[in-house]
Amino acid sequence: MIQTYDIGRSWGHNYRAGPRLEGVEVRVPATTAGRCFGYPVNSRLGIAAGLLLNSRWLLAYARLGYDLLTYKTVRSVARPAHPLPNWVFLAETESETGPVYAAANPGEDRSRVSSSVCFGMPSVSPVDWRADVAVAREGLLPGQVLIVSVVASPQPGWDLRQIAEDYARCAAWAVAAGAQIVEANLSCPNVCSAEGSLYRDAEASRIIAETLRERIGDCPLLLKIGHFSRRNALDEFLRRVDRIADGVTLVNGLTRPVLTQDGNPMFGEACRTAGVLGRTIHPAAVDQVRQAGRTIRDENLSLNLWAVGGASALPDIRDFFSAGAQAVMLGSSPMYHPALAAEYKRKLIRNAPDGQAAES
Ligand SMILES: Cc1cc2nc3c(=O)[nH]c(=O)nc-3n(C[C@H](O)[C@H](O)[C@H](O)COP(=O)(O)O)c2cc1C
Repeated sequence: MIQTYDIGRSWGHNYRAGPRLEGVEVRVPATTAGRCFGYPVNSRLGIAAGLLLNSRWLLAYARLGYDLLTYKTVRSVARPAHPLPNWVFLAETESETGPVYAAANPGEDRSRVSSSVCFGMPSVSPVDWRADVAVAREGLLPGQVLIVSVVASPQPGWDLRQIAEDYARCAAWAVAAGAQIVEANLSCPNVCSAEGSLYRDAEASRIIAETLRERIGDCPLLLKIGHFSRRNALDEFLRRVDRIADGVTLVNGLTRPVLTQDGNPMFGEACRTAGVLGRTIHPAAVDQVRQAGRTIRDENLSLNLWAVGGASALPDIRDFFSAGAQAVMLGSSPMYHPALAAEYKRKLIRNAPDGQAAES
């Protein structure tokens, strides 16, 4: 199985040398899927924040037919990645809670792969990413959209206003550099500071969204959130941010203990739990998207719904659209299945009765 990210090497190495796409050749069928936040799009399929480390990664995947391209989460200060390992494959499991165990390899079946990441949301310096975001925007093909994911980097003693301002600073820089959509990451399973779980506080999320809105004007704003175990909490979040943000992206990786085969923490004591991705989380992600879709419809909210979590084969993408998603984002699967967008366009969009995107 191809792996475009070298999980045995550092994030910095992959930043400089990736993606490894030798031998990947795809023909991308011409498609159309109407408009997304006013932008014409070839499809409503894209790549979530993470895998597209810089403009070289982003433009390589743009040419493979992914149309909604998220530039990985950036910060107002440079931040190194956690030490290796940062990304491990997991043994298959049926259980939806409790520990998961690392596996030496991903197995043969791409659609069954689960993995876990613990990067700590590294970022190059703002000077570097701002210049590079402009290169990414410049290189997009027609019908493609650039989303830039941002996060705050709280210093000791910062209050919520300062955190919100830091989000807004990054967002304003991203828009000036060419972002067509801003995504504020309110959830990260493997950072231990405040920015890792802000989405659980609906009022704090509202304040951050308002501060972002003031600074980015009409630029569409998505909020990336993690899993809610209580339905009420998800509904409350959606109500509070409605008509301030334009949409939500859910769900981020699910937090679980990630262990070696002999029961030690895979990413070290400081990161006993980490974000689980891929097959294992897909049912929970679809449930959460369906719930959010129902609430948005029943309460007449104006939020767009972007789905992510465990989509690695065509039926998974279909699950999300059927659950009410307006766009489907892939986090980890394009790493080991880079041709998935082309396959999707060939099989799902091309077979739509009117020749338009079947999903929209
Ligand atoms: C290499 C990698 C790095 C990631 N880094 C980020 C990040 O910086 N910000 C973020 O919002 N999500 C990040 N994620 C999470 C993904 O955006 C996505 O929510 C998660 O992978 C679940 O989707 P999946 O099951 O399709 O992989 C990362 C994922 C991967 C694979």
